Formats: sequence, structure tokens, C-alpha cells
Amino acid sequence: MNGGGRNSWRKGVDEVGPAAEVPGYVWSRAFGAAGWCCLGYLSWPARRLFVLALMALAVYCTLHALAPAEPHHAPREEELQRAVMHSSTLSQETHHEPTIKETQPPPQPPFCPQVPYNDKRKRLPKALIIGVRKGGTRALLEMLDLHPYVRVGKVEMHFFDDNFNKGYRWYLQNMPYTFESQMTIEKTPSYFVTPDAVKRVYVMDKKVKLLLIVRDPTTRLVSDYLQIVDNNKRRGKELSFQEHMFTADGKFIEKRTPVRVGLYAVHLAMWLQHFPTNQIHVVDGDALIRRPFSELIKVQNFLGLPPCITPNHFYYNMTKGFYCMQTEKYHKCLANDKGRTHPHMDPALLTIIRQFYQPHNEKFYKMVGRNFSWPGK
Ligand code: A3P
Repeated sequence: MNGGGRNSWRKGVDEVGPAAEVPGYVWSRAFGAAGWCCLGYLSWPARRLFVLALMALAVYCTLHALAPAEPHHAPREEELQRAVMHSSTLSQETHHEPTIKETQPPPQPPFCPQVPYNDKRKRLPKALIIGVRKGGTRALLEMLDLHPYVRVGKVEMHFFDDNFNKGYRWYLQNMPYTFESQMTIEKTPSYFVTPDAVKRVYVMDKKVKLLLIVRDPTTRLVSDYLQIVDNNKRRGKELSFQEHMFTADGKFIEKRTPVRVGLYAVHLAMWLQHFPTNQIHVVDGDALIRRPFSELIKVQNFLGLPPCITPNHFYYNMTKGFYCMQTEKYHKCLANDKGRTHPHMDPALLTIIRQFYQPHNEKFYKMVGRNFSWPGK
């Protein structure tokens, strides 16, 4: 690089002539002439000093001119190199091709005030993601974790259903540290379908904000089935969807736990006995997959958080087929068990399942005042 710079300078010298290309040479001559004119008015020591200063200046100017010029585009090249290095780390971490957007970390939005660092300690959650299993609960939690005013419990604590006997001290110990202005959020999807959990959550904090993420219950059931297959694989069992959810004579087993989870109206009714509708925000899980930012705006509003999450926090990962997240510190896609490829389903089975869910869905739409238009046939 340097050799190239020197050569290009040489080329200029040969073509145009030394005086034109070496400003130091010109300046040293000019200063020399001016200096001799003034010398007559100075004492001898002053004259010596003046001559020395002139000589130093001439040497500096000449050396400066001879040095290869800094290429004009150097900073840009550095920037580009940094961006390339940045994107290569990214692809190592996430195993996908970097896009242009991925090389641009999201700037802090001006309307997102700095978190005041005071009173750091563990706190009980001010908001809970209560369900629904396979609705997109992990995606929602990780997306909320992008928010500087949010700290999330990374693992499902199952406190209000399975671990309640461990006590609040245990629950609190498992919470992240937060500053006073931050909000702790925990997610355990089984809370939604556990009657005891409703009362226990209410006793903990009747003002707690509840997030429920739902998706078409038929798709959710398939997703749940895939999860079960994955769990059973480790135990060496593998059953087809039909074997799982239908009897040998083709009847849909409505009492199966994964099927019951999709009866959103039934479970929500329990929660509405204790909490007002405006304390439960329903997130559209299908929309979260397609347009995460739009859903996150509504969630931030509901939680009373400043709008710190921006569209730049998300980029579409072609390999995964889902949106992933990025901040100045990390790039993250959800793990492989989130976003599995769904198998082709027998349309006759799908119709049976959809018809089963249809009346429950209609009830649910009325309860939340929103029509999700999930297919009924
Ligand atoms: P599938 O694996 O069936 O596609 P949960 O976290 O509640 O178990 O939900 C898992 C579901 O989250 C996935 O179900 C997937 O569809 C959905 N999801 C939503 N946004 C996602 C994202 N950005 N990346 C991966 N999965 C996402």
C-alpha cells in the first residue's frame, strides 16, 4: 500500500516538475529570501537563532512534501474492513450469510433515555409472559430483552405452578438484578393453563402486567406435536401426528393435553376472574413471526416503556426463515428448536381439528375484542 502511494507521487513529479509538486521546496526558498532581508536589523545571537529556525522549517517542509500522501479514502477502507470483520464474526456465531443491515448496529434512539443506575437489586417481576406454549413465548421474551428497561428471567421458572413450594426467596434468587427503573419479566407458558397459577400471581401482585401470545391453535398443535416428538426421540419413541392425536378409528382425542392448551377461551376465562382485560395484552404470534417490530411497539406501549426497540433491532435470516435480533453487543437467532419445519398435514385431519377449535376461537375473539381470523375449515 505504502509503496504504491510513493510511486503515484513520483509519477506526478516526473510529469509536472518538482516545484509544482513539492510545496516544501517553494516555501523554503521564499522563507530564505525573506529572512536575508530582515537579518540586517537583528543582533548576532538573534541572527544565528533566526537562521537555525529557518533551516529547521525548510527541512520540515521538504520532508513533509516528500512523504507519501495519505490516500484520500483511508478512513473509508478502515470502516469497510471493520464492517467485514464484524459481519464475519456474525456469520460464525449464527451460521448464515450476513446482509447489509446486519453490519449496521442499531443506533440508540433519541427518545430512549439512559437507564438511571440506581438501587440495583433483584426484584419480583412487574410483567409475566403467561403463555401460550408454542405461541412464540421465547421469541417475545428475547425481543423484549432488547429493551434497556427490561431484564428477563432466562429460564422458565415454573414458580406459580410447579415450584411454588420453594417460596418467594427462591423465586427472587432466580431473578436478574435490575435498577429501580427497570422491569423484570419472567415467562412460563404453563401458567396460562394452570388454575392455581392465576390466584398465586394475583396474590403476588394484582397490578402485574400479563402478556399472552397466541397463534392459530391448529398450527400451535402441530408445533406442540413436533416438540413432543423431539422430547420422545430422546426416549426412543416416535409416533405420527395421527397416532398422537387421533384414535385408531379416526376420532380426534379432544382430551389430550396439547389439544386442550389450544382452548384459549377456557383458560383466559380463568384469568379474567382475577384480572381486568386491560391488564392482559394479547400478542398475535403469527404477526410476531412476520412483523416483529409492529408487535413490539404495542407491547412496549402496554408495558409503559419508552420506545427503545427500533426496526434496526431485527433482521430477516434467510437460512432460518425467521427474524433474528441484533444490538451493538450481539446478534442472535433463536435456537433450532424454535422455528421447526412443519410437516405436510393430511387436509382431512386439519379440517377436523379446525372445526373443533372454531367455536372456541369465536369465543376467544369476543373476549379479547379482536378477530384473529384463524381458519375454521
Ligand atoms: P415452531 O417451531 O412450530 O415454528 P415457544 O417459544 O412458545 O415455544 O414458541 C415457538 C414458536 O415461536 C415457533 O414455533 C416459531 O414459529 C415461533 N417464533 C416466533 N418468532 C420466532 C423467531 N423470530 N424465531 C424462531 N421462532 C419464532
